[in-house]
Amino acid sequence: MTTIEHTAAQPARSEPVTAPPFAVVSGAEVQDVLRGRETRIVDLVEDTYRLHGAGDSVNPPSYFLRFPDRPSARIIALPASIGGGVRVDGMKWISSFPENVATGIPRASGVLILNDADTGYPFACLEASVISATRTAAMAASAADWLCRGRQRPTSIGFFGTGLIARYIHTFLAGTGWSFDEIGVHDLSADSVAGFRGYLEQSDAAGRITEHDSAEHLIRSSDLVVFATVAGEPHVGDPSWLEHNPVVLHVSLRDLAPEIVLASTNVVDDVEHCLKADTSPHLAEQLTGGRDFLHGTLDDVMAGRVTLPADRPLLFSPFGLGVLDLAVGKYVYDRVAANGGLHVVDDFFHDLRRYG
Ligand SMILES: NC(=O)c1ccc[n+]([C@@H]2O[C@H](COP(=O)([O-])OP(=O)(O)OC[C@H]3O[C@@H](n4cnc5c(N)ncnc54)[C@H](O)[C@@H]3O)[C@@H](O)[C@H]2O)c1
Repeated sequence: MTTIEHTAAQPARSEPVTAPPFAVVSGAEVQDVLRGRETRIVDLVEDTYRLHGAGDSVNPPSYFLRFPDRPSARIIALPASIGGGVRVDGMKWISSFPENVATGIPRASGVLILNDADTGYPFACLEASVISATRTAAMAASAADWLCRGRQRPTSIGFFGTGLIARYIHTFLAGTGWSFDEIGVHDLSADSVAGFRGYLEQSDAAGRITEHDSAEHLIRSSDLVVFATVAGEPHVGDPSWLEHNPVVLHVSLRDLAPEIVLASTNVVDDVEHCLKADTSPHLAEQLTGGRDFLHGTLDDVMAGRVTLPADRPLLFSPFGLGVLDLAVGKYVYDRVAANGGLHVVDDFFHDLRRYG
């Protein structure tokens, strides 16, 4: 028989073991916290890019779960860990089912799990589609700000794809001080155009709204172009459409032919992430066998490490980093907790004594 002596390093646990409470935060609560805080969230996203750029994060490649019988659908796992003052680990698990839209529910749905950095215990599950759309819109607004410095400030914007993400991006641009004389819209779906137009009209967006049947006209008439389609492969291939050198927020990542990427200045959020999964920059890398067409990351731009020529189109292709979801999710959690509104699931962690 072996006797185990308890030492100072292994104290006897006579007290009941405690685990962190586990809370569930609904989409309504998430939206309550985030609504109207566009500037704060853009700052948070920029701080997170700086932390990530400084190496104070772990952000492995996203995992794409795909289905042979449902080729347009996917569920993506984005595990990540963030240091600094946030100090939390976790994972976003987010589905994209584009056909949902026709049945009246959004394409994307998901959850964000936050894990305690000391014990590893998950301590919250948050509705993640609002967090994801919010961090995506915040990074787009941040990029618009930084990439347009040193250029004439855009007075016309074109939304190529007018779904939920386009709406969030417009809200974030408006909430961080942008206004436009001209707002152009283009989508394959007349319903999407009508829905987005209705949102714009209700949102007091200044400026004339023009619906473009032609993709070429939309791009040629916009200083700032936002791609937010669900296209799986390039459908814009003529570099001459961008001869007016617009700033392009290529949020949907797969719309532009590699020839356009190669004729442009390219900024990404993270090089390794962005050159994967058949994004347009990934196709450009496959075509050329190199990465010389990349000018840097948004963090490089914010830190002044790269200068961006104004005599070419300027493309921002953000893969979307899990660390951003964690930072925004932790911000939401902290605010809900500070307001005393956390919905804790009693006894979520159970059977905590090792030997019963
Ligand atoms: N980079 C990131 O971090 C990030 C984060 C979130 C979402 N996204 C991407 O944003 C995109 C938009 O998401 P959403 O939730 O708004 O989707 P959504 O389904 O609500 O809207 C997409 C719209 O694009 C339109 N569309 C599709 N193909 C088109 C084409 N070739 N030309 C014009 N319009 C076209 C559809 O009709 C639809 O109205 C998705 O591709 C999604 O993956 C990227």
